[in-house]
Order: sequence, then structure tokens, then C-alpha cells
Amino acid sequence: MIHTRAGMAPLAWSAEHDTGHPQIDADHRQLLILLNKIAHAVECGSDRAMSLDAIEQLISHTSKHFALEEQLMRQHRYPEYSAHLAKHERLALEIQALQHRYSRSEIDLNSVVFNLLRDWLLNHVEFCDKKLVAFLGAC
Ligand SMILES: [Fe+2]
Ligand SMILES: [Fe+2]
Repeated sequence: MIHTRAGMAPLAWSAEHDTGHPQIDADHRQLLILLNKIAHAVECGSDRAMSLDAIEQLISHTSKHFALEEQLMRQHRYPEYSAHLAKHERLALEIQALQHRYSRSEIDLNSVVFNLLRDWLLNHVEFCDKKLVAFLGAC
């Protein structure tokens, strides 16, 4: 069980989340490091500027990561490219919306971490990225 309250342990990557593609997995692990950075900001009661900076880094990493997967999909003519791309676009908008709502004090950082973690690890990586890597492995 992952806790998102102040005082929580760092979120740990588990091998069950690996897709089997070294670069994609390295990116996902880095994503979790950045999520932990946000969680750490919660724990330390960091100021808003530092927290927003941590979210900004997450947005930047996410953008680069999506570009990598999209390039692989085009390169290998992935048949579910459009659907996967649409999910990336929705996730990118979701992260930006969370950042916007946090910057306006409409939500706290716990919500930011929890929502990103749920959408990324429990949904996108498990159901979309693993399917993509299975296809790439079969090419
Ligand atoms: Fe993806
Ligand atoms: Fe991914």
C-alpha cells in the first residue's frame, strides 16, 4: 500500500512495473524519482516555489519520455499508435491541470502525487506501455 500523507516512506519501484524495454523502464524509474521529490516536498513542508519546480521537472521528464515512446511507435508502425498517443496527450494535460490547480492552492501536493501515481503506474504503464513493449519485442 502506498501512502501519500506527510511522513510517508519514499515510493519504491517494483520489478512488476518493468516493461522489459531498458530505456522506457529507465524513464519510468526516473519518473518515480521525480514523484518522490514532490512527496519529499510534502514531507518537508517546502515552499510553493520549490514544489512547483519539482512538478515542472516532472512535466519536462514526462514530455521527453512521451516523445521517446511515440518515436518508437512510429518507427515500428505500432497499430495502436493513435490510441496511445491520445492517452499521452490526456496525461500531459492532466499533469498541467494539477500543476495549475496546485499553483492556485485549489489542491495540496498529496493530491498531486496520488493522482499522478495512480494514473501512471496503475493505469498507463500497466495497460498501455507494457502492451507497446510486447509489440516491440515481437517486431
Ligand atoms: Fe506511454
Ligand atoms: Fe511510459
